[in-house]
Amino acid sequence: MRSLLLSLSSLLILSACATSGGAGGGGAKTGGGAKTGGGKAMAQTPADVATMTNVEKIMHLQGGKAGPALALLKKQPASYTPEQIEMMKSAAKYVVAIGARLEDAMFEKKFDGGFKMFATQLKSEGTKLGGAAAGGKAEEITTALKGLAATCKGCHAKYQKH
Ligand code: HEC
Repeated sequence: MRSLLLSLSSLLILSACATSGGAGGGGAKTGGGAKTGGGKAMAQTPADVATMTNVEKIMHLQGGKAGPALALLKKQPASYTPEQIEMMKSAAKYVVAIGARLEDAMFEKKFDGGFKMFATQLKSEGTKLGGAAAGGKAEEITTALKGLAATCKGCHAKYQKH
């Protein structure tokens, strides 16, 4: 329980960073992504991720895409709405693309093999989330979201300096 609470609070930090609108609200936000902060140019499709070179920008994108999906862990509803499922499917595509991008040798040079391992894990957790969202079963989706959250957290604990 305690560790779940801890990971939820770190998710709040992630989404606070990602949404720039502040994560204060009462969770009234649904179907994230519709909201744009200040017209910041970002990758328009998961395929665009392959051209990105800056880890911070990649992570900013990741926060924007995966943040709203992970925020659903705060509620863990008995069933997810079609809108939430579509949002998670889309987020999962970005997560997989980001994982693949971070696996690149270029990033390995900047970091190390452990980083690559987390990147690979990110890819597989993204794939799991995509599969679970497509299946639509709430329990599986929640499990996949938890696995993804643990991956974000694991890599940040080791490689995010602040
Ligand atoms: C493979 C390692 C790794 C994984 C996995 C990872 N991150 Fe990150 N993340 C980083 C690193 C490194 C930074 C610091 C980047 C920098 O500031 O240069 C970071 C920073 C961030 C930031 C701050 C970006 C900013 O705008 O300053 C957000 C938001 C973020 N990550 C979200 C996520 C989410 C959400 C997940 C999981 C879906 C995730 N990250 C998974 C390595 C990772």
